[in-house]
Order: sequence, then structure tokens, then C-alpha cells
Amino acid sequence: MFHLKGKVAVVTGAARGIGRSISLALSQAGATIALIDLSADSLQGVHDEITAQGGQASMHACDITDPDMVAATFKDITEQHNALHILVNNAGITRDNLLMRLSQEDWEAPIRTNLTGAFNCTRAAVRPMMKQRYGRIINIASVVGMMGNAGQANYAASKAGLIGLTKSTAKEFGSRAITANALAPGFITTDMTAELPESTVQKLTENIPLGRMGKPEDVAPAVVFLASEDAGYITGQILPIDGGMVM
Ligand SMILES: NC(=O)c1ccc[n+]([C@@H]2O[C@H](COP(=O)([O-])OP(=O)(O)OC[C@H]3O[C@@H](n4cnc5c(N)ncnc54)[C@H](O)[C@@H]3O)[C@@H](O)[C@H]2O)c1
Repeated sequence: MFHLKGKVAVVTGAARGIGRSISLALSQAGATIALIDLSADSLQGVHDEITAQGGQASMHACDITDPDMVAATFKDITEQHNALHILVNNAGITRDNLLMRLSQEDWEAPIRTNLTGAFNCTRAAVRPMMKQRYGRIINIASVVGMMGNAGQANYAASKAGLIGLTKSTAKEFGSRAITANALAPGFITTDMTAELPESTVQKLTENIPLGRMGKPEDVAPAVVFLASEDAGYITGQILPIDGGMVM
């Protein structure tokens, strides 16, 4: 297991699903976790799980689409913990519909959260990372950002954009010892995918060599590795975690 003792990690969308699992895994590796989600109430559960396991965490209600709120929250986090080493841009939403039926608002909403939100957090995090000469940015993209998906033009565009943001961040901050990588999960069982009809899940599973949907716990260990000092020579990469769906 990779060690993150003494490291401070911010995880957005930490209240549930993949973000919750990543927060627990980073904490088990020794990091202190600043948990971000839309409401503090929603973070209480994961906060209590971390502290019950002997870990340390703080809770921050923040809408990542609001640049002023993001700047203030990251200032609070850095002051409270005296550092910021790891940023996991995990918060994300879907607004699925066929392209011809997508309203302007439904087109823009996933781009605002999944792409602009990640930009807002990255911009706020790189300053303390540069001072420390240590930074690990891990963006949670999606296989859909690599291969597209009918009914998800908005979401796919936001995740493809996030891949572009990841590679540009890697190039811009490489000389400062800050790495930026993305994970591209396939179909992971969370609230986000809970509404998929059984027939769709069955059809999806047929195209997955490992023959099953993923779990949040399938994603979290790769975040721990990419956040560690051992991954210091890996940057600008996109790692699918999808049971072999995209290869
Ligand atoms: N579940 C999947 O199959 C799958 C596959 C590929 C990628 N992903 C990506 O993984 C990430 C996590 O997905 P999940 O399935 O755990 O989703 P989820 O819906 O279970 O959790 C997302 C979390 O993000 C929070 N959030 C949403 N908007 C926010 C905002 N503006 N500010 C702060 N927090 C906000 C939500 O409150 C929620 O707690 C997302 O970026 C998603 O696109 C998921």
C-alpha cells in the first residue's frame, strides 16, 4: 500500500459514491482529507466513517461551479491544514438526453460542474502546491469522454474537456513537480447509475471483458497510487478503470 502520511487531500463530491470511496482510501493511506460537497450535512456520514477509523477529515460545503466560493473554501482548507498536496476533482453530474432534445441548460449544466468546476478547483489548488513543490491532481473523467455515448453528448463533451484540462495542467505545471492525471471509469455502481434499467445493464455488461459493472472500490486504489510520491514520474495520463471495455 502506498503511504500518504503528512499529506493533505481535497476530494470534491466526497459525500457518496466514488468520492466517498476515494476519501476513505486516501485516509486509510494516511492523508488528512478536506471533504467538499454541496452541503455539510451530506458529508457527515463519510466524515464520521473516517474519524471512526482513526483518520482526520474536515467538511466544507461548497458549490464548485462558483469560483468565489471555491477560492474562499481552498483558502480555508490551506489555512486549517497548513498545506494542500492532493486534489481529486471527482464531483460530477449527468443530464442525459438525446442531442436534439437537449435544452440549453441541460447542455451547459454538466460542462459547468464537470469541467468548469474542475478548472475552478485546479486554479485554487496550484498556488499552495507550487509553494510546496509537491502536487498531485487527479481528475475523474469517464470512458464516455474517450468514446462518446448516444444520449450523453453534454456529459461526454464535459469529460473529453476534462481530459484536455488534465493534459494541459500536466504540461503547464510539470516543472513545478505537480502532476495531473485522469482516471476514466467505465460503468460503476453508484447513485449516478442506479436508474439504468436492468436490460441496459445487461447489454453494457456483455461488452465488458471482466463481465461485471465496477464498484467505487475498484476506482479508489488507483487514486491512492497516483497521489503518492511513487507516482511522481507519471503525468498527463488517462487510465481507464472499466473492466477492459476500452482498449
Ligand atoms: N458512476 C459511474 O458509472 C461513473 C463512470 C465514470 C465516471 N464517473 C464520474 O465519477 C464521479 C463520481 O460519480 P458518482 O457515480 O460517485 O456520482 P454521485 O452522483 O453518486 O456523486 C457525485 C457527488 O458530487 C456532488 N456534486 C455534484 N455537483 C456538485 C457541485 N457543483 N459542487 C460540489 N459537489 C457536487 C454530489 O452532491 C454528489 O455527492 C463523477 O465525476 C462521475 O462523472 C462515474
